[in-house]
Amino acid sequence: MQRLALRWRREERPIGFVPTMGYLHEGHISLVKKARQSAARRVVVVVSIYVNPTQFVPTEDLAGYPRDLTRDKRLCRDAGVDALFVPDDKQIYPAKEGAKFSTYVVEESLSRGMEGASRPAHFRGVTTVVAKLFNIVLPDVAVFGAKDFQQAAIVKRMARDLNFPVKVIVAPTVREKDGLALSSRNQYLSPAEREQAVTLWQAIQQARQAVRASEKAIPASRLQSELRWLIETRPAARVDYIEFFDRETLQPVAQVQRGAQMALAVFVGKTRLIDNAVL
Ligand code: PAJ
Repeated sequence: MQRLALRWRREERPIGFVPTMGYLHEGHISLVKKARQSAARRVVVVVSIYVNPTQFVPTEDLAGYPRDLTRDKRLCRDAGVDALFVPDDKQIYPAKEGAKFSTYVVEESLSRGMEGASRPAHFRGVTTVVAKLFNIVLPDVAVFGAKDFQQAAIVKRMARDLNFPVKVIVAPTVREKDGLALSSRNQYLSPAEREQAVTLWQAIQQARQAVRASEKAIPASRLQSELRWLIETRPAARVDYIEFFDRETLQPVAQVQRGAQMALAVFVGKTRLIDNAVL
């Protein structure tokens, strides 16, 4: 992959890159389209599919993470992807005696709260693999989804802090008709859970309405408990966190007003879903 990327670079062809863990859906495909539009003519678009073990915490679904490479290949071909990079664990994290992988990339500020607090070492895995993928694929532009708002902010910070010559673009969240954000993990949901999963989007809309209807800022703690109550009236739903924070610093705000960012994580049955939006 790196040799191919070096050749494209010599030919002055811009490289657009979309890293994924596969089991692709319309959200991923929207990033591919964005990658094609955002770079100049003659852009080559690379998609990677790699279920990165270092970003799963021990209690999570690494072995059971959904995979369907045949279908993913077809979706990529239909979307006009130029190269699909599908490395295996031995290539990304060599474990050979005496030559075991031992270097990690750690972002130390934006990754502390929310997903970082609930899933220790998750972002260390993400930044490490994204740094490796950037060095292998050598993209000019890399596209990430706003669905994972904190992840996108951390990757941007990493690229800036470590001087990766990569422009990181964030593309909007693609949703189902009822508002549920597309996610590879949605397929874990039973039909009853799938119906209840819309509660994340309803909570976001309720917060938006509250903030827009109120003349004064609303205390975050009040909004949090109202939304927790709304969500947990659904029998399968249990809130992990609901946060209101500044879009740039990701620092929590005590008073919520229009323009604040909201993010939440909710277990629906055993499946943990996340969503976010600007209020
Ligand atoms: P994955 O969950 O497969 O997501 C790959 C990319 O698709 C991420 O940038 C994510 O934000 C974006 N995405 C997912 N659902 C989306 C939706 N409904 N609308 C728009 N974009 C969406 O995120 C990862 O993989 C991994 O952490 C990775 C960055 C590949 C590192 O391993």
